Amino acid sequence: MAEKKKEDLMEKIVSLAKRRGFIFQSSEIYGGLNSCWDYGPVGIELKRNVKDAWWDFMVHRRDDVEGLDCSILMAPQVWEASGHLKNFTDPLVDCKECKKRWRQDKLEDPTKCPDCGGELTEARNFNLMFKTFMGPVEDSGAVIYMRPETAQGMFVNFKNVQISSRQKPPFGIAQMGKSFRNEITPGNFTFRTREFEQMEMEFFIPPEEDEKWYEYWKETRKNWYLMYGMREDHLRLREHEKSELAHYAKACADVEFLYPWGWDELEGIANRTNFDLNTHQEHSGKDLTYYNEQTKERYLPYVIEPAAGADRTTLAFLIDAYDEEVKENGETRVVLHFHPKLAPVKVAVFPLMKKDGLDELAHKIENDLRESFTTFYDQSGAIGRRYARQDEIGTPFCVTVDYDSKTEGTVTLRLRDSMEQKRVKIEDLEKVIREEIKNWKRV
Ligand code: GAP
Repeated sequence: MAEKKKEDLMEKIVSLAKRRGFIFQSSEIYGGLNSCWDYGPVGIELKRNVKDAWWDFMVHRRDDVEGLDCSILMAPQVWEASGHLKNFTDPLVDCKECKKRWRQDKLEDPTKCPDCGGELTEARNFNLMFKTFMGPVEDSGAVIYMRPETAQGMFVNFKNVQISSRQKPPFGIAQMGKSFRNEITPGNFTFRTREFEQMEMEFFIPPEEDEKWYEYWKETRKNWYLMYGMREDHLRLREHEKSELAHYAKACADVEFLYPWGWDELEGIANRTNFDLNTHQEHSGKDLTYYNEQTKERYLPYVIEPAAGADRTTLAFLIDAYDEEVKENGETRVVLHFHPKLAPVKVAVFPLMKKDGLDELAHKIENDLRESFTTFYDQSGAIGRRYARQDEIGTPFCVTVDYDSKTEGTVTLRLRDSMEQKRVKIEDLEKVIREEIKNWKRV
């Protein structure tokens, strides 16, 4: 029964996402493209807010992190040096009966097909990188790869950024952007897809400080999700077993989220040592060491890497925000309790009637609020229906303009989470909303 409820929750979220314009299936009119998704008008606002919140926290609010935006296509030598050509593989098995393909390391019984119980083939290593050709000739000399992680852009630009920004370790380089992996078993909506966006930061440090910074980034990243309203009992840190570690990592921990299908990865924090700088130094023949003027020492910095996914983080915030509340009249209210900073629309403005100048005043109020917040104007249907539509996309504040607004200069401000309504002077609206956002706490 509990399992059924969890499945229902995922179905409800996928259905809400489509109905209200968060996420659509890619190429839907052609039957859809497996594991590819498009963000609709409300979804793109949510995802942009998630990315802005990450960038603000990881770059703008820190003196020791610089931003970067690298091209998706990189010299093929990058992937040879990084080990991705040789090691970025998953064990692929085929069912001899129904011909379905599986990732062996994700199967409970690695000998039987989970669908039909048929016998499985021996595992073979399947490289997850998408290959294409650069230029008009499709020969082996033109092979190029779609990046499977944004991280390598930071390693190959280490010197460029360090010298141009005059940073000294410990300092970080951050970037967000698309990555591509030919996953054997994508699934769970936008959780595991073949095209996705990452938000990664490589923090370059003196080698002897690796354990201190590893601990620091694990805690700091977990706390970021709490700052944006994720429920504490839906988050945990899980240290990787040695057997789970990627080829470049000395240690790794996941920030895990309690998805409807159970605990699973949200973000990974890895100690990559000097693996990447070392291998790029060897393969490129360029000196990637840092010279410490004070100690007169030259060394290859170690790297601690918090690596998150923008799509997966957006999905986790959507799942965590989803709630169904039974109201006093027995009706069910579907509401998304987003942190106001993540909410796609911050303030919706409604005229009680679309006449007698109420609509004009509401338009004016909405226009003024646009200077500070993302807003939405709605004059159709009963006020209760308009509130319900905003609850479903997680709008934290609704403003209703009525006849007293014209005579007394006040409006009703309705709060999404408590459904409390209060009378506020029009001239104080912006200030009151700002205060509410500042003091917002997840209930
Ligand atoms: N540079 C290290 C790295 O790429 P990762 O754990 O493979 O590490 C980091 O990826 C994050 O990127 C993951 O925690 C996840 O949020 C996101 N991610 C990875 N593969 C993904 C996929 N197939 N679909 C969606 N997000 C993915």
